[in-house]
Amino acid sequence: MLKSGVRTNPHRMHLPPHMDITEPMPERLSSVMDLLTASQIEKNAFDDKAETAPTLFVVSKVGDLIGVKANGELVAVKSMIYGTKEVMSMSTSVHEDNLGQGHGTRLARNMEKIARENGVHRLFALVAPENGAQLSSYVNKQAWAITDYKPGYYGDEGDFGFGGDRFIVSKDLTSQERKDPIFEIEISDTAGLKLAFESGHIGVRLIRGETGNSIGFAKATSKAKRPKEKGAFSSQKEVIAAQKLEAKVRDPPSSVFFLRSMEMVGEVMVERDEDKLTGFVGVMAGKKDDAYIHGPFTDGKDATPLLEKAESKAKAMGASSTWTVTPASDEKGLAMLSAAGYKITEKADGLYGGKDLLCLAKDLT
Ligand SMILES: CC(C)(COP(=O)(O)OP(=O)(O)OC[C@H]1O[C@@H](n2cnc3c(N)ncnc32)[C@H](O)[C@@H]1OP(=O)(O)O)[C@@H](O)C(=O)NCCC(=O)NCCS
Repeated sequence: MLKSGVRTNPHRMHLPPHMDITEPMPERLSSVMDLLTASQIEKNAFDDKAETAPTLFVVSKVGDLIGVKANGELVAVKSMIYGTKEVMSMSTSVHEDNLGQGHGTRLARNMEKIARENGVHRLFALVAPENGAQLSSYVNKQAWAITDYKPGYYGDEGDFGFGGDRFIVSKDLTSQERKDPIFEIEISDTAGLKLAFESGHIGVRLIRGETGNSIGFAKATSKAKRPKEKGAFSSQKEVIAAQKLEAKVRDPPSSVFFLRSMEMVGEVMVERDEDKLTGFVGVMAGKKDDAYIHGPFTDGKDATPLLEKAESKAKAMGASSTWTVTPASDEKGLAMLSAAGYKITEKADGLYGGKDLLCLAKDLT
């Protein structure tokens, strides 16, 4: 989403008007009911482009899925996934009836708490420049910094019904240093923003204006480094091609946010024929000594070689077991996983667009 608070989804849910929301604490979510509600909140917030219930199931295991409940009803959710020393916030959504009540900030504080408990050094997220509420929550309320600008990260306007620019916002948990801004640039001044980042500055304040917001910049310290650039997909167009490969066997496929996030904190391996994407697989280290394998997905050819590549990568990451998910309806995928030694460990009823989600695992030792 685009302009915070602007919701266009006609299927939005409505909550009772007099809910007691005094200081509800974020909690970890994992029940099927919570996952389905969480994905509905995400859909409403992101115009149907957001995380699906199966993706949230994966995130709740490989990372963390936290939510705020008021009177037993879920009103806000945040999904986060882990790299080796960093944790990425993949999405945050607050129910439209509960915006501006501090839930987004509450969830981000909890994310920081969980990260600190896990010895993580850095938090980061990708935020649209026009998303004033999210930037204000991270930068002004919780001392995150805007460390980079990625114009067109999610493709051209129209690919998703919203603009594709993103700021990388991050917080270094090893440093307490907080800088004051020395100059301001309007968010609409894209050339000025680019120049500010390129000349070694970071955004340390969001300044609300009558006609638009500005960013207050300070000189970057060595601590406020940009995240390492990683990326297997050649462009956002290729990410959409990957999503289409998924859609052949999964309804719904993962969101492009998830594919991009996995690329940033995990490993994605792709296969191409000339320039055309013909297959891909993702690997993410889990919180224990396990690794999650996303896919593999191909254009019809045998996916076993990609699965083997992913298992080698998982071993190199130090994993002694791998796990994956698949809709129960994907018979071909299930046969391939079974032939490769995967055993069903869990079933989530109706999570895959009404069909069951199966969780399968393999011991690599
Ligand atoms: C972004 C989002 C999660 C924030 O959650 P929230 O609970 O409404 O946020 P909070 O109440 O914690 O804080 C928001 C702050 O931003 C401020 N704010 C809102 N719109 C703003 C704008 N356009 N410019 C600057 N500040 C703004 C609010 O005034 C509030 O600050 P205050 O408490 O000092 O008044 C929520 O708006 C949302 O779900 N948006 C849709 C989905 C989305 O964009 N998610 C983030 C993707 S990275």
